[in-house]
Amino acid sequence: MSAVFEVNRLRKAFGGLTVTNDVNLSMAPGDRVALIGPNGAGKTTFVNLVTGNLRPDSGEVRLNGETVTRVDAIGRVRRGLVRSFQVTRLFHDMTPAEHVGLAILQHSGRSGRMFGNFLAMGDVMAEVDGLLGTLGLRELMHRKVGEIAYGQQRLLEIAVAMALKPKVLLLDEPAAGVPQSDTARIERALADLPPDLAVLMIEHDMDLVFRFAKRVIVLAAGTIIFDGSPSDVTRDQRVREAYLGSYANAGHAA
Ligand SMILES: Nc1ncnc2c1ncn2[C@@H]1O[C@H](COP(=O)(O)OP(=O)(O)OP(=O)(O)O)[C@@H](O)[C@H]1O
Ligand SMILES: [Mg+2]
Repeated sequence: MSAVFEVNRLRKAFGGLTVTNDVNLSMAPGDRVALIGPNGAGKTTFVNLVTGNLRPDSGEVRLNGETVTRVDAIGRVRRGLVRSFQVTRLFHDMTPAEHVGLAILQHSGRSGRMFGNFLAMGDVMAEVDGLLGTLGLRELMHRKVGEIAYGQQRLLEIAVAMALKPKVLLLDEPAAGVPQSDTARIERALADLPPDLAVLMIEHDMDLVFRFAKRVIVLAAGTIIFDGSPSDVTRDQRVREAYLGSYANAGHAA
């Protein structure tokens, strides 16, 4: 299948430290990719570069065949490249309904409307209701985000991302900070994502990685050292040395 998302020879250095070192990556619709690697490997930086939150030193990002390297972050979202953040960036005084409603308005180009009015817009609220229902958040729709559990906030981030109608979704540690008891709900939300959406997930929880991913990419010190199947990644010598040693040695199978 042809690529919906392509990164060619992407490079970024902070001072003397190269954190993105000639990274090439391509995804097709429906891909389920896990991006893993040690702390500081450059995973979040990679997402910041491709989404336009950070400017690369060189290299190219393509979406649906169009070069977007010079398109700003909002323009990339509009073209279907949506990300979530490693640490939530929700507004604690706003409700889930307001977050998702605003995202829907932004996507449909109606964000100029008076904020608050959309609660009375039937079409928007139907979509808000559907999205929050899918993620098990309907009952909390009108509560303040500051009052809901962190796991639910992370689910809300996925709802907000989906409201932007992505073709490519980049999730930066969607289960980070979530108590073990709630990770199953996040996992279910990931499993329920539309089949034709291309998803790249950064994650440290290897059990979650192996249940989610059909393909695993390993980044170490800014360089991709592995791109292949979950069953091969635990056997790869370089990966074992750089990151997965203890996991693989503990006898986990993909
Ligand atoms: N704005 C910045 N300025 C300078 N150095 C930075 C900046 N952002 C990140 N770095 C450095 O780049 C390297 C990669 O960081 P990055 O956050 O991308 O790693 P990561 O793989 O996401 O790690 P983690 O698993 O801990 O989230 C680190 O050494 C970090 O300190
Ligand atoms: Mg990170």
